[in-house]
Amino acid sequence: MNPTENQSFENYSKSERYQYLHKTWEHLYDEKCHSTGNLANAVALIRSIFGHWWIGFYQVVDNSLHLHVYQGDVACTRIELGKGVCGSSWKEMQTIVVPNVHEFPGHIACSSASNSEIVVPIIMKNGQCWGVLDIDSVHFNEFDDLDRVELEKFINRLVEQSCFNFS
Ligand code: SME
Repeated sequence: MNPTENQSFENYSKSERYQYLHKTWEHLYDEKCHSTGNLANAVALIRSIFGHWWIGFYQVVDNSLHLHVYQGDVACTRIELGKGVCGSSWKEMQTIVVPNVHEFPGHIACSSASNSEIVVPIIMKNGQCWGVLDIDSVHFNEFDDLDRVELEKFINRLVEQSCFNFS
């Protein structure tokens, strides 16, 4: 049942891991489950394939980003517009790839173990930002343009599947 159980991704390239992610998600997504359950499985699936340090969603509520489902250590609960990598991605409505978080002005350090980060904004069909997907790595330079393209594709699929259609 667990699509990643007993599965080693050690010999998979990054591109092959994303192919596995997209394919597996189509089996895992459950249109009869409420959205939070699907989002929880989405972060669990990405983390089990890539082994990232921290991965999760922040949702825009009352004009701040609020911590939503995630996997990893405890994290900051609210982030203001324009603050940190998440707040900047929300403000600019753009994916931000940070090769070295210690050089990002205003980076919010939830964990001292994090060294690089990618944040993808979640843009709904009406053009509004639902929130962001945030991924942290213990490695420097973990994320690049391939991650940006593939994660944007994944998020767009979740938008299509109405995974963010709840308050
Ligand atoms: N580093 C983020 C804050 C969220 S934690 O990494 C989970 C930022 O600068 O926005």
